Amino acid sequence: MANGEVLPLVMCGDPVLRRPAETLGPEDLATPAIRRLIAQMKATMEAAPGVGLAAPQVGVPVRLAVVQDGPERWGQESTEDLVARGRVPLPFTVVANPVLTYLDAGGEAAFYEGCLSVPGLTGVVRRHLGVRVEALDEHGQMFSRQYTGWPARILQHEADHLAGVLYLDRVEVRSLSTVDNYRDYLARFNAQELAELLGYQV
Ligand code: NI
Repeated sequence: MANGEVLPLVMCGDPVLRRPAETLGPEDLATPAIRRLIAQMKATMEAAPGVGLAAPQVGVPVRLAVVQDGPERWGQESTEDLVARGRVPLPFTVVANPVLTYLDAGGEAAFYEGCLSVPGLTGVVRRHLGVRVEALDEHGQMFSRQYTGWPARILQHEADHLAGVLYLDRVEVRSLSTVDNYRDYLARFNAQELAELLGYQV
């Protein structure tokens, strides 16, 4: 894949983040325009850095997202925290037109997450621990794959973007925090302790 240029990120308040994006055909993935967009989204996600990016976040209203996670993005996170979140390496993956089904046996978990389009803030979002994703890959081929833990959260967050949904729509409002205050005051607590400290039901 050719190296893409880093694109400016669209911030919340831009209506493009609130409209359902348009479905892509398998043949669209082979076009120079979409191949270039994928390379640009990869570069933009890496530069941010982020673990996922949806096309509307660079102003393009199509149902396309890229995801990637791994040690290069884990920085100062403790092993304990990585394990608690189920944060495991997720290879670079292109998903177009993703359809998610929840794996009921997986249950749910509430963790702090953030979004590149909502800079400086983080909040608790309850999400499914396991999902099956059916989508087109970067070659326009259908795939079906199961994700658990943090990768499942990333896929749910990005699929939301393609439907015009932000994590702010699902956040436990009383948990909202600046990233700095999260690090200084909140990162040390588990889900139950956070709920008691901040005043909401788990
Ligand atoms: Ni986001």
